[in-house]
Amino acid sequence: MPDISFSPDDSLYRDRDRLSEEYTPAELVGRDDEIARYHTALQPVINNEDPNNIFVYGKTGVGKTAVTRYLLEQLEADAGTYGVDLTTVELNCEGLTSSYQVAINLVNKLRPPDEGISNTGHPMHEVLSQLWDALESIGGTVLIVLDEVDNIGGDDTLLYQLPRARSNGNVDAARVGVIGISNDLAFRENLRPEVKSSLAEVNIRFPPYDAGELKQVLSQRTSVAFYDGALADDVVPLCSAYGAKDGGDARKALDLLRAAADLARADNADTVTSDHVESARRELEREEVMDGIADLADQHKLVLYALVTLEAADETPARSQKVYERYAELCDSSTHDARTTRRVRDFLGEIEGLGITASSRHNDGLAGGQYRAHELSHSTELVLAAMSDLVDHVGVHESIVGLVEDSDRISVSLA
Ligand SMILES: Nc1ncnc2c1ncn2[C@@H]1O[C@H](COP(=O)(O)OP(=O)(O)OP(=O)(O)O)[C@@H](O)[C@H]1O
Ligand SMILES: [Mg+2]
Repeated sequence: MPDISFSPDDSLYRDRDRLSEEYTPAELVGRDDEIARYHTALQPVINNEDPNNIFVYGKTGVGKTAVTRYLLEQLEADAGTYGVDLTTVELNCEGLTSSYQVAINLVNKLRPPDEGISNTGHPMHEVLSQLWDALESIGGTVLIVLDEVDNIGGDDTLLYQLPRARSNGNVDAARVGVIGISNDLAFRENLRPEVKSSLAEVNIRFPPYDAGELKQVLSQRTSVAFYDGALADDVVPLCSAYGAKDGGDARKALDLLRAAADLARADNADTVTSDHVESARRELEREEVMDGIADLADQHKLVLYALVTLEAADETPARSQKVYERYAELCDSSTHDARTTRRVRDFLGEIEGLGITASSRHNDGLAGGQYRAHELSHSTELVLAAMSDLVDHVGVHESIVGLVEDSDRISVSLA
């Protein structure tokens, strides 16, 4: 019988929690330019001038939330020193899909905890008037951080109204500044011009981290999270290089480091090595691809299935047209209606955007014209495992019979 007793085993980690999302480092490294621009944009607050409305954007995991909190904490401390009347509120808009919901949540953040209003049943104008009242009674400078603001969708009433609260005479005693944060680059583009110009008075773009910046981020974290000597020398550079390759996402790089150290700990290893990093990366990538594929709509899965069958027969990279033909066959042999070639090209682009496939552009000169050729970015086995529900439904294509476990279930044989 295995020994299942638990005992503390912290020979590697000094404090594992310092690698988690909740931990905010005392100092943020690798974002000097962004911090400097952000700092300048916040400067009017400390001068008791009207605050700028700021729009912060960039892909996921590039430090938007972390830098915002870091600077606002400093600003609050300095406002105290210089006697500036400053209130900051941070609202994460995840799950708040309309101006109405965001406005109610804001009111409840601004009012005393026991004076909250219910989430439904108020006309919008009433919610707004509660919002103006709440701002008015707080007074001074009120900075409102709307993180992940893209959740609000196309209904931008609040984003129009908030920056204009004072000029429209809705509040008088309070100077309101809005800080919108988003990782959806299309969101900003799609705002109405009048909303964009007021909400995004100052735009601050956070680019993806490069490997050197990630190395700074990880080195800083390892010094507080691990004992000296717990990591082999190549571990941080390797995690940084992978992080840079995977979208320059610090969250992912930190997750990779923690997953590698967890594997090392499970192995009872004395140090975390590059082998642990490689295994952890395979494991994380596997989970991510599985999740990404499982979430796809059936039409996307059909397109992906078509590509899988081509890849299994060594026919990739495959032209979009060829993928389309196989897709149409799969639709025919199941109950799905085939979409147009154009739609399928869009689907291919979307699947590629999720990192499930990759494509390259080719130019065949005058005769062939331009075309794209697609292939899987992951093993056929992995992709198939992640969409087994669709494969069950459509049937096992002859090209993948050897890859599917109980492949004698159903076979789709195509002419
Ligand atoms: N410069 C940095 N120094 C130290 N840690 C950082 C730095 N940048 C990001 N991190 C850490 O990486 C993780 C992701 O950062 P953050 O939450 O700020 O990303 P984000 O840009 O807001 O992403 P999202 O768009 O997904 O919300 C956090 O755990 C954060 O503490
Ligand atoms: Mg964030």
